[in-house]
Amino acid sequence: MFIADLKFYKYLTTKRSQKIARSVFPYLQNKGKLLDLGGGNMLTSITLSQLLPELQIHGIDVIRDQNLPDKLPQNVAFSTYDGRSIPFEDQSFDQALVCSTLHHTTDPEFFMKELVRILKPGGILIVVEEMYSNWLDLAWIAGLDWILNKLKKDVPVPLNFRTYRQYDQTFRELKLKQTAHSHVRPAIPWQRLEIYAFTSPT
Ligand SMILES: C[S@@+](CC[C@H](N)C(=O)[O-])C[C@H]1O[C@@H](n2cnc3c(N)ncnc32)[C@H](O)[C@@H]1O
Repeated sequence: MFIADLKFYKYLTTKRSQKIARSVFPYLQNKGKLLDLGGGNMLTSITLSQLLPELQIHGIDVIRDQNLPDKLPQNVAFSTYDGRSIPFEDQSFDQALVCSTLHHTTDPEFFMKELVRILKPGGILIVVEEMYSNWLDLAWIAGLDWILNKLKKDVPVPLNFRTYRQYDQTFRELKLKQTAHSHVRPAIPWQRLEIYAFTSPT
């Protein structure tokens, strides 16, 4: 039995995902195909599928989250993979979202590169991620994230957080063109997720 099996947790996690989806959807287009890397329970994508009904969403993850619904909306698909490279061809998606997932991977910079690879030139990339400026910030976000993820079954927690500066450098190296930057406080007021919108190089 995990805390994540409780009704109250499911209610809170649904509210969190709805808030994130409402924060990122103005940066997305209601057409084409979107990859949700590390979709987890897919609740963010499910809300997006209601806000953007013409968009086809495919979520991938290394686990099947215990709160992944048995039945997904008709414009949402989900599959698991081995967590190595993204199992899609170059330039096969119009848009991509990676939400609170990069720090769970063994190599965030590699997965950023992979996201650019699978996007069509000029495609939209949304990065939602926690970042830090100093060691105190890092201790806080890592501690909080570790606790929140221990409430769930099987979630890999390598916790590879990066500083704002490190992410800036990665975004520059990948020649991403930033179109927006905002933030969301999804669950508890003192948790802050940065939201970056980019277009991929043409
Ligand atoms: C904190 S959850 C976020 C889930 C969802 N994006 C959300 O915001 O609700 C992080 C997710 O990243 C997944 N993950 C870890 N490594 C991954 C990888 N290499 N590729 C894809 N997903 C990965 C985990 O299994 C987990 O479901």
